[in-house]
Amino acid sequence: MISVSEVTVAYGDLVAVADVSFEVPPGFVLAVSGPSGAGKSSLLWAIAGAVPVKSGQVEVDGRVITDRPRAAAHGVVLIPQGNGLARVLTARENLSMPLLADRKPTEEVDRVIEEALTSVGLLDSGDHLVEELSGGEQQRVAVARGIAQQGRVILADESTSELDSSNRERVLDLLRTQADRGAAVVIATHDPTVAEAADGHALMDEGRLTWVRRL
Ligand SMILES: Nc1ncnc2c1ncn2[C@@H]1O[C@H](COP(=O)(O)OP(=O)(O)OP(=O)(O)O)[C@@H](O)[C@H]1O
Ligand SMILES: [Mg+2]
Repeated sequence: MISVSEVTVAYGDLVAVADVSFEVPPGFVLAVSGPSGAGKSSLLWAIAGAVPVKSGQVEVDGRVITDRPRAAAHGVVLIPQGNGLARVLTARENLSMPLLADRKPTEEVDRVIEEALTSVGLLDSGDHLVEELSGGEQQRVAVARGIAQQGRVILADESTSELDSSNRERVLDLLRTQADRGAAVVIATHDPTVAEAADGHALMDEGRLTWVRRL
């Protein structure tokens, strides 16, 4: 369960997220859309503990999110806009890093990575360097890395922006499957078809959040 209570995020004088409140229960997918610069990424970063909140509070399953390491330890997974992959490592190495940090056994890590790469249709590309992959393939690696972490919360920031329609469907199905196993999912998107596929749809504009369709 994600609980965002009266959250404001500011960069100096610039208020990126203005007094935003909502909840996303386990099993639900929320889409957040709105113009460029509206504050969607900043909202996701706040939930991920990647940017400090100026006022208000983010809780995940009742635990207050204060910083990125603790948020990650609580199972808050961020699939960042721009993918956040290490370009000179292979796809497989990119997937393994957060899993090895969890000290999972090697065989389990290998199995989870194979499953995640297969689920995005990139098993054969696992040993390619990220910089050798196309933009859409890189985006699918980032999604695979996100879902491989089996988070309680998954924050997908424009994770379908470079995909053709069949891969977009595939990624939406994967995020839905994550919700079905009990994750709370938030997707920031400019794509109306992605917003329609979600359980709820919120709109951000100049940091403020309004509902198109409530969860
Ligand atoms: N690290 C930062 N330092 C200063 N200002 C920032 C920083 N990150 C974002 N901003 C500003 O905060 C506002 C919200 O940015 P944000 O990235 O959250 O928007 P967005 O809705 O995700 O936009 P887009 O659709 O382009 O991804 C913008 O005015 C942006 O310039
Ligand atoms: Mg953004």
